[in-house]
Amino acid sequence: MQEFAGKVAVVTGAASGIGRALCQGLAALDMKVVMADVEGGALNEAAEKLKAAGHTVLAVRTDISQADSVSALAERTVEVFGTAHVLCNNAGVFAAGLSWEAPQSDYDWVFGVNVWGVLHGLRSFVPLMLAHGEEAHIVNTASMAAVTTAPFTSAYYMSKAAVFSLSESLYSEMQARQAAIGVSVLCPELVDTAISRGERNRPEHLKRKAGEGESPERELVDAAIAAATPTGVDPGVLADRAIEAIRENRFYVLAPDGNPWRTACDVRLEDIRLARNPTHAVPDP
Ligand SMILES: NC(=O)c1ccc[n+]([C@@H]2O[C@H](COP(=O)([O-])OP(=O)(O)OC[C@H]3O[C@@H](n4cnc5c(N)ncnc54)[C@H](O)[C@@H]3O)[C@@H](O)[C@H]2O)c1
Repeated sequence: MQEFAGKVAVVTGAASGIGRALCQGLAALDMKVVMADVEGGALNEAAEKLKAAGHTVLAVRTDISQADSVSALAERTVEVFGTAHVLCNNAGVFAAGLSWEAPQSDYDWVFGVNVWGVLHGLRSFVPLMLAHGEEAHIVNTASMAAVTTAPFTSAYYMSKAAVFSLSESLYSEMQARQAAIGVSVLCPELVDTAISRGERNRPEHLKRKAGEGESPERELVDAAIAAATPTGVDPGVLADRAIEAIRENRFYVLAPDGNPWRTACDVRLEDIRLARNPTHAVPDP
């Protein structure tokens, strides 16, 4: 996609971290930005900041795990701005734990947001993009988790592998349809965001019951992620990377060559190519 000014972008997870940085980056290109997030207070605050800087912004409180909420987001987008040209399916949550001990509610919560949330976004916005026929682009936020191997975070790793795979399907489908819709899968390494505090948005009915799924491994990962995220890259770096990929119509948006997460991805691909057993290669947080 080459022309951004005056076009409409929709970003989920817009109140914090990578989503908020994406909104800033897209607004700086003079796009009209629809900011969607489940956390109403933080969303309005982020939207007000962009408005105060002179940008055209619409904040829509949205729970992407619910199909009705995402179709209402699309309706509101059409009502206010006419259509959508860029969709960043970015909101996501994290849960740690041993694969067989983590409660079903961990899987339901993480899949509801990370996988069904992305699918709901596609169902609501791809038809709008196909209908207007102008240049458009979809960025799905997966993770370097999608292309690496690690223990104690199966719900998250599974969900990101699903987003990665769904994005590849979508890309091939757009090619098959000769649609003017580009697709990118954004795979961040460690980023300095609020992801380790994602429990703040976990719905009451999906909260863990006392003692459920507790394990030393879960505690270890939770503590390590909380300690490590402040050492991650600035979310603005990921926004710049995503915008460059939209401009260049590039699908795979990975951690750069030489980054330890990229090396871990190379090791995994080599494990698969040689059909050897998985190597533990991800950087310890
Ligand atoms: N931070 C990292 O190290 C990292 C690494 C790889 C991938 N990612 C991915 O980046 C994306 C953005 O996460 P982040 O790191 O900026 O975290 P963040 O917690 O700072 O931002 C995520 C946003 O998503 C929102 N959200 C949560 N549940 C939602 C729902 N049901 N509906 C709508 N919005 C919801 C939150 O309110 C929050 O504003 C996620 O998909 C995450 O998995 C992050």
